[in-house]
Amino acid sequence: IPVFGGVVKESPMNIVGGLGDVVTSLSRAVQDLNHHVDIILPKYDCLNLSNVKEFQYKRGFSWGGTEIKVWFGKVEDVSVYFLEPQNGFFHAGCIYGCKNDAERFGFFCHAALEFLLQSGFHPDIIHCHDWSSAPVAWLFKDHYMHYGLSKARVVFTIHNLEFGAPFIRKAVAYSDKSTTVSNTYAKEVSGNPAVAPHLYKFHGIINGIDQDIWDPYNDKFIPISYTSENVVEGKQAAKEALQQRLGLKKADLPVVGIITRLTHQKGIHLIKHAIWRTLERNGQVVLLGSAPDPRIQNDFVNLANQLHSSHADRARLCLTYDEPLSHLIYAGADFILVPSIFEPCGLTQLIAMRYGSIPVVRKTGGLYDTVFDVDHDKERANAQGVEPNGFSFDGADAAGVDYALNRAISAWYDGRDWFNSLCKTVMQQDWSWNKPALDYMELYHAARKG
Ligand code: ADP
Ligand code: GLC
Repeated sequence: IPVFGGVVKESPMNIVGGLGDVVTSLSRAVQDLNHHVDIILPKYDCLNLSNVKEFQYKRGFSWGGTEIKVWFGKVEDVSVYFLEPQNGFFHAGCIYGCKNDAERFGFFCHAALEFLLQSGFHPDIIHCHDWSSAPVAWLFKDHYMHYGLSKARVVFTIHNLEFGAPFIRKAVAYSDKSTTVSNTYAKEVSGNPAVAPHLYKFHGIINGIDQDIWDPYNDKFIPISYTSENVVEGKQAAKEALQQRLGLKKADLPVVGIITRLTHQKGIHLIKHAIWRTLERNGQVVLLGSAPDPRIQNDFVNLANQLHSSHADRARLCLTYDEPLSHLIYAGADFILVPSIFEPCGLTQLIAMRYGSIPVVRKTGGLYDTVFDVDHDKERANAQGVEPNGFSFDGADAAGVDYALNRAISAWYDGRDWFNSLCKTVMQQDWSWNKPALDYMELYHAARKG
């Protein structure tokens, strides 16, 4: 089952976020169910190839008057074909954000289908992710379906409807099945013209996280290995290492972590408010974030400077993209705050729980589907077969975030035994691909039958 993904997780110029995690880890999960998966990506010049094993040149082919070099490698045990057109489309120093993005990705999608055809691949499912691989859906139906790839069915997944809406609209119309990455987001966007006419073939399937990639028992970026059995000791060591590394006061204080792209989606005004509120409540706060928009980045640089003079020992804003540091924060923080305005799925709350950190989230999209408030959601949690696992709030104003954060920090100060057992509970919950991968398999089978 070849899987298309138009993006990767990170590059110096562009932060792409969770889509890269999902394409890799869903592919691994489907592969573990004994299906063959290949990923096809553009060979962006800004790719970090250090994690690619067995990297090699395969061959060249030509399409649309352009020579295209095909490279191959393994990423986390999944086969990836990298297409490098010699017209320079992906030698732009970035992943997206060029003026000719539509042309670049249109070209890539055409070239990818041509590559499948010319190489004699016979996929059962072509799974496209977000707008950058959307043209595959209509190019396939209008053309390639009639030329050698007739067995294939197209599944299109929306990770974020804010980007590339016209592309997404057309891809949903042309695909055999379409999905998005949580049930609640599927409901939230059900009135959108891109999906409203196609609800009969539109499904919400929650993302999982790869338990091998995110594993506090086997993580070279944290000081000691831990499981739910020694979570208190493991997190204490990680907290001390985090405080030491960032020059924060080494003290037994509640640590609130925030790991995010700094964009409107992520609730910037709520993040800022929560930083000050945490300090007032005698907590420490660590933010790891980077802003594609220079104005937002500047704004946070100013805030970082201000905090450096007023609260140097209790607040640190790391305005960069740093995967190793993210691991230490997931392990060393007590809470991971995700106050998003909207969130199709969200992975940081899931990774947080894998490391025994308690999510504090706004009730939207996938955050609503995965975080169950300890004070308010017992019934809803039990209906899902899980225990309550965090703190959540509704509004998009300061009072909302205060309501959840105050309860979280008070719980830490007033009931350490209870809090520690909550850390253990969240670590034991299963937010892996075990269940969602089966849902995708069912969907792939349904696409082939339909
Ligand atoms: P989105 O895709 O909307 O950015 P997700 O929660 O789905 O949000 O995925 C975010 C992913 O990117 C997670 O794996 C998170 O750890 C990672 N991430 C986000 N910002 C940073 C950062 N500044 N440094 C390191 N990792 C980050
Ligand atoms: C998008 C969404 C995020 C989701 C990710 C992976 O980037 O913003 O909520 O988790 O895709 O599906």
